[in-house]
Amino acid sequence: MLADKRITLIIGGGIAAYKSLDLIRQLRRAGAQVTPVLTRAGAEFVTPLSVAALAEVRVFQDLFDLKDETEMGHIQLSRASDLLVVAPATANLMARMAAGLADDLASTLLLATDKPVLIAPAMNVRMWDHPATQRNLAQVQADGVQVVGPNTGDMACGEHGPGRMAEPAEIVAAIAAQFGPRQMTGKRVLVTSGPTHEPIDPVRYIANRSSGAQGSAIAGALRDLGADVVFVTGPAHVPAPDGVQVIRVETAREMLDASLAALPADAAICAAAVADWRVKAEFTQKMKKGAQGVPVLEFSENPDILATLSTHALRPALVVGFAAETEQVVSHAIAKRARKGCDWIVANDVSHGTGIMGGTENAVHLITADASEDWPRLPKSEVAKRLAQRIAEALA
Ligand code: CTP
Repeated sequence: MLADKRITLIIGGGIAAYKSLDLIRQLRRAGAQVTPVLTRAGAEFVTPLSVAALAEVRVFQDLFDLKDETEMGHIQLSRASDLLVVAPATANLMARMAAGLADDLASTLLLATDKPVLIAPAMNVRMWDHPATQRNLAQVQADGVQVVGPNTGDMACGEHGPGRMAEPAEIVAAIAAQFGPRQMTGKRVLVTSGPTHEPIDPVRYIANRSSGAQGSAIAGALRDLGADVVFVTGPAHVPAPDGVQVIRVETAREMLDASLAALPADAAICAAAVADWRVKAEFTQKMKKGAQGVPVLEFSENPDILATLSTHALRPALVVGFAAETEQVVSHAIAKRARKGCDWIVANDVSHGTGIMGGTENAVHLITADASEDWPRLPKSEVAKRLAQRIAEALA
């Protein structure tokens, strides 16, 4: 399964380090070559000797080991593999990765590498839930790092919750997925994302609460499957993913133009929260308070990008819309699918109490021509992965 794949395995300092010994065994059984790197804290949990015995190669431990620098420098070591895996990835190691520190061999390799990186976090549940760790997680993911686990369960410290390192077999599967066939190679996908801003005058605009998180995650998940992604985004709060073509727009009309310019495409995913209306005559000067009293704004309707793409001569083979609803979510979404002429609708309840709009989780219903599926509430990144997988299957 992993024949001749070269894996650099960084073992951090956590009780889960003992599982990394089994991970080395499983990786080698799958045909991989493992170059182990043991952090100073990692060496408190497993010995260099046991790691070396299982990997059947020497263990790298110290940045300032001159013998290593003459035989193989740290830059070379950081690139002499197909994938870097960090297991266990401790809260401290994740923080150092997020900050871009290079203060030991492991962090230096992670900063110097040009290869993909996969981490298997493991820590106490409160450390995992801490906003600092979640911030660091979001940062390393935004930097393109893949994450497997952690799992939920009883922990060595006696607490229960998320924080257990993924099992070695799960880590091997995640590693194999990195090398697996990328189903969307050669497919071009348009993703619209974020809110639009509709100007009132040079300093004021109409906007909505969309953060762009779901659209960004979808673009990233499609990229991970090998798709060539054109990401047309309004002014979002989250960064655009790496490795996609980013086109930044402000208004619905600009978003339509950029979307049409991206055609032909195999699929279009309209995740943007497009303003339905714009101010009919945008004021060229800042509106002033005064004797004329409170302004009355007149609106005109914006173009519907999803409906335009759905009926276009260059219509993508698969057109997916979103439905942001606050009541009768599924029935409104079914009607919306028909009205817009798209293939699927991803419907979600954006009522105030759900915390979905602008939040990190989503609970969606996937409406297709003949079914309505209720997906569980999941992180937006997970919704994105599932949706990307379905898109890949539909285009296969
Ligand atoms: N959409 C679009 N262009 C617009 C408005 C919406 O492309 N001018 C797309 C959105 O990206 C989303 C879908 O249409 O994929 C539905 O958006 P939503 O705001 O839920 O629907 P509306 O068209 O505004 O319909 P309604 O007013 O009935 O909610």
